[in-house]
Amino acid sequence: MKITCSACKKAFEIPDERIPIGKAIAFPCPACENIIELDITHGLKGAGRSGLEENGHETGEALKKHILKNVGQLPPMPQTVLKAREIITDQAIAARVLKLANSSYYGLSGKVASIQHASVVLGHKALAELVTMGGTAAILGTTLPGYGLDAGELWRHCLGVAFGARLIANKKNPALSNDAFAAGLLHDAGKLILDPYILERREAFQNFIADSDDGFLAAEKAILAFDHCEIAAEVCKQWNIPKALTTAIRYHHYPSRSQNDPLAYIVHMADGIAMMTGLGLGIDGMMYEFEEDAMAFLDLHEQDLDGIMAEVLESVQKISNERQ
Ligand SMILES: [Fe+2]
Ligand SMILES: [Fe+2]
Repeated sequence: MKITCSACKKAFEIPDERIPIGKAIAFPCPACENIIELDITHGLKGAGRSGLEENGHETGEALKKHILKNVGQLPPMPQTVLKAREIITDQAIAARVLKLANSSYYGLSGKVASIQHASVVLGHKALAELVTMGGTAAILGTTLPGYGLDAGELWRHCLGVAFGARLIANKKNPALSNDAFAAGLLHDAGKLILDPYILERREAFQNFIADSDDGFLAAEKAILAFDHCEIAAEVCKQWNIPKALTTAIRYHHYPSRSQNDPLAYIVHMADGIAMMTGLGLGIDGMMYEFEEDAMAFLDLHEQDLDGIMAEVLESVQKISNERQ
């Protein structure tokens, strides 16, 4: 029987005679040590891709527990986002930081020779921003087939939301500008976590979308019993993400439930703006639902939006060194 690890996607052939029919078993993946669970209580037929799939399409608390147990397989977000010193000793991340520092966004293309140099010429604040981006680039750059996002699309979307959120914060509440950037960058981390589970239930999602006027977020809630905001908030706790960022991430689709958290409103607005510019549409992009009072809460007006959209798009293009 062929078994595929849900974490590293390696496939293994296990002789049928070694598989205990009628039992649920768990064993570490020989390649990545993720625990593979198999429930073969109904015989071998249909059993076998990954343990998660084989466990049936769980929802609610059972699924959440399952997901949180597997979150250990994700790259360690707190170090990458919060501890600049550790990042700089990580060669892969340091290289990405340097590449970003040399993008046309900072106007120093090709001239930044080292992280120390970046810190001197760009200043401490820009370095913190670079480190946050460098630390999250790889994890946010992956393909998300469940959400219909190609490699790099979520990353560009999150960059757009980070730039937009900082822009709005600078206009309305400059004290929040650093947090707005970081929360914008991380706001859809829940999508990384849910993607494989959505892919497994693709048919249910397609049916929901076809039969309902509600968007993809409602489908997550209906099919999984929680959405990407809720699961991200749980994972943020494990990742030691500061509470202010966690709250913004938790309520970024419905900031009115956040008890007037300005950061949640800022990220919500920036998310909608990024969608309007076409950054990271994926499967759910065309159905972005702005909360009615968000503009008023932030004292933003229709005429502000075009300027923000243009600036966001330009920043994303420059930082990813793309031509217009
Ligand atoms: Fe989202
Ligand atoms: Fe988003």
